[in-house]
Amino acid sequence: MARPAHRLAALFLLALAGCDYYEVPRFRADQQLGGVTVPARTLNRGADAYMRACRPCHGALGEGNGPQAVGMAPRPRDLRLGIVAYASVPSGSLWRDEDVIRIVRSGLAGTGMRAWREIPDDDLVAIVQFLKTLAPRFRDERPGAPIVAPPDPWAGREADGAARGRVVYHGLGRCQSCHPAYATAEEVGRFAADAGVQVEARPDPDRPTESRTDFGVPLRATDFRAGPLRSIRDCSRAADLYRAIAAGLGGTAMPTWKGALPEADLWALVHYVDGLTRGEAAAPRTLGGSEGR
Ligand code: HEC
Ligand code: HEC
Repeated sequence: MARPAHRLAALFLLALAGCDYYEVPRFRADQQLGGVTVPARTLNRGADAYMRACRPCHGALGEGNGPQAVGMAPRPRDLRLGIVAYASVPSGSLWRDEDVIRIVRSGLAGTGMRAWREIPDDDLVAIVQFLKTLAPRFRDERPGAPIVAPPDPWAGREADGAARGRVVYHGLGRCQSCHPAYATAEEVGRFAADAGVQVEARPDPDRPTESRTDFGVPLRATDFRAGPLRSIRDCSRAADLYRAIAAGLGGTAMPTWKGALPEADLWALVHYVDGLTRGEAAAPRTLGGSEGR
């Protein structure tokens, strides 16, 4: 092991040479992370693989400011909070291993976080363990409980689901308080009155709102008609949409809807938002008074 004086000298020389200096942590003891004992050798393997594959963007300490992050929009995520936006856990809870594995394997559309398929499975599993050492919350907290999707009650009658979803979106769910409204003011007033909720009109209801994330960056709520959604893949659209809506997006204004809305309505929103992203007519006029609440 290098003595501190040698390390300082190395640091100085590298700074002179214009290199970006970072230290790869070495773990000598197993660690308790998220309530599980992780062997030191897994963490060392994970640290090495992380420095190769992830540090260029996420930074050696997970701060989100690696050398390749300069000018990147959106910025690479700050991984020190232990929160992943597109996770399967209620907003604010620690992420689960399978969340990070899914995100690394499938990427986030429209961002620098592409799908990293070339990383071997063993390395990825080790990276996921190493990530927990970057977030202090993993020392004494456990990951959140996963949100599981029940069977889709609209299977076979998706159009009815989408029609109900449009009512829920603008009424009971008030999604247009952040996202754009895709209905007229008169319709919104009617959907809200039927659901017994108050809706505050925004001056420009067609525009998404902007808010600040816990990661320290501004974020605009999605306009579902403006291109692909971050976490929705074609091979699993319904499950991905259900997860994003039901679990919410940790660290952002997008709340957890599981428990706040009836299950049939969560699934109705999945079908409605899916239609919006496919550019389907925003106003299917098939809304009888017969939908259950
Ligand atoms: C080329 C740059 C780049 C590299 C390399 C990269 N990422 Fe990312 N990563 C990003 C960006 C940009 C985001 C933010 C996306 C967003 O805001 O939606 C991100 C987001 C994430 C998130 C948070 C997702 C969420 O839902 O909040 C995780 C976890 C993550 N990256 C893990 C990794 C891991 C692990 C590696 C290495 C295997 C890696 N990234 C490599 C750019 C990168
Ligand atoms: C308090 C503000 C707020 C409310 C209310 C809200 N959202 Fe969001 N929503 C956001 C923000 C912010 C994002 C993040 C956009 C991003 O990451 O680019 C988002 C993103 C999403 C996404 C995109 C996920 C992806 O993969 O890109 C979906 C789907 C979504 N919201 C559905 C809904 C639905 C349905 C409702 C109503 C039941 C709703 N939202 C209510 C703020 C909100």
